[in-house]
Amino acid sequence: MKILVTGGAGYIGSHTVVELLEKGYEVVVIDNYYNSCKKAVERVEEITGKSVALYEGDVRDKGLLRKIFTEHTIDWVIHFAGLKAVGESCSKPIFYYDNNIGGTLALVEVMAEFNCKKIVFSSSATVYGDPEVLPLTENCKVGGTTNPYGTSKLYQEKILSDMYEADKDWTVVLLRYFNPVGAHESGLIGEDPQGIPNNLTPYIAKVAIGELERVGVFGNDYPTPDGTGVRDYIHVVDLAQGHVSAIEKIATTGVFVYNLGTGVGYSVLDVLHAFDKACGHELPYAILPRRPGDIATCYADPTKAKVELGWEAKLGIEEMCGSLWKWQSMNPKGYKS
Ligand code: NAD
Ligand code: UFG
Repeated sequence: MKILVTGGAGYIGSHTVVELLEKGYEVVVIDNYYNSCKKAVERVEEITGKSVALYEGDVRDKGLLRKIFTEHTIDWVIHFAGLKAVGESCSKPIFYYDNNIGGTLALVEVMAEFNCKKIVFSSSATVYGDPEVLPLTENCKVGGTTNPYGTSKLYQEKILSDMYEADKDWTVVLLRYFNPVGAHESGLIGEDPQGIPNNLTPYIAKVAIGELERVGVFGNDYPTPDGTGVRDYIHVVDLAQGHVSAIEKIATTGVFVYNLGTGVGYSVLDVLHAFDKACGHELPYAILPRRPGDIATCYADPTKAKVELGWEAKLGIEEMCGSLWKWQSMNPKGYKS
């Protein structure tokens, strides 16, 4: 079976390609390296001892997509390619909508031309907005997104669902990720943010290696046990395996929605202290004002994925922080190290 992975050089994509190759799937990757580099794919090949058919280019380039579908018989597409920086999406909304929605539209148009109608889409817990109830099940209300990035995910879910309503030959799998963290156990691939990281764990890792001075904790007056924000952090390898389970278990057409999370919420201070243990020293931090747009608490009910896909997250906060520390210390400058 051959899988086209868009954005396969990126953080979650590269980990998913490892899991696919290790399960014996053939993999084709398209990536424009906007937020990644070729080295990630070379590292994937090093880990697995298998090769990837790699195409450099944009998913909005229908000519390139047609070339790929002509050269390969693709059974499933896993669509990671997209821009994901929440803050940047507020200052460049059209750039985000064009890239994310434009990419999905071009991709499904060419998929249909080649009668490949099975897609797994990278969605996000952000589509739930500020949760009314916790834990979040797939039936919870979506909407109320507070930035163009989140809104683009919501629209892409809707576009793919509408496409199925019009053509019942499609299989559309919408995977709503909670907070992916950590790295492959080899320390060879991981998250490689450019500049100052926006997300908590890459920021902590850069404090741990001494590149940044201290961790800023965005608010300690939330209605949570220690006052800091609570999230459902999921190990990226567990998340990657969720994609393999979806491809293996879903055998009919339809629209399938799954939360991929652990069901456990950790606060910012919980994560910080777990990282202290992983790196062997206490990291400096300061309490700062709340970050605009942040919610207090967000965690998944992952039951549906367990029952229907036979998938559940296995790795805990120690493995998340330990693997991130290994990746960070082996590659202090990321793939440029
Ligand atoms: P990433 O930036 O590391 O990976 C995305 C990849 O897509 C990058 O390699 C980038 O170069 C590529 N890309 C972007 N636009 C492209 C285009 N037009 N054509 C070709 N390639 C393009 O991000 P990630 O963390 O691996 O996220 C993967 C997907 O999962 C994204 O769609 C993201 O929105 C979604 N997601 C991520 C998170 C998270 O916290 N990391 C949470 C929920 C959902
Ligand atoms: N935080 C800090 N200091 C930092 C960074 C973050 O205290 O330097 C806090 C935040 O306030 C929040 C928690 O750490 O309470 C997690 O923040 P992240 O930025 O790591 O993650 P978010 O939950 O804000 O968002 C992430 C992705 C989104 C995605 C969402 C759900 O950035 O794209 O998870 O999947 F939609």
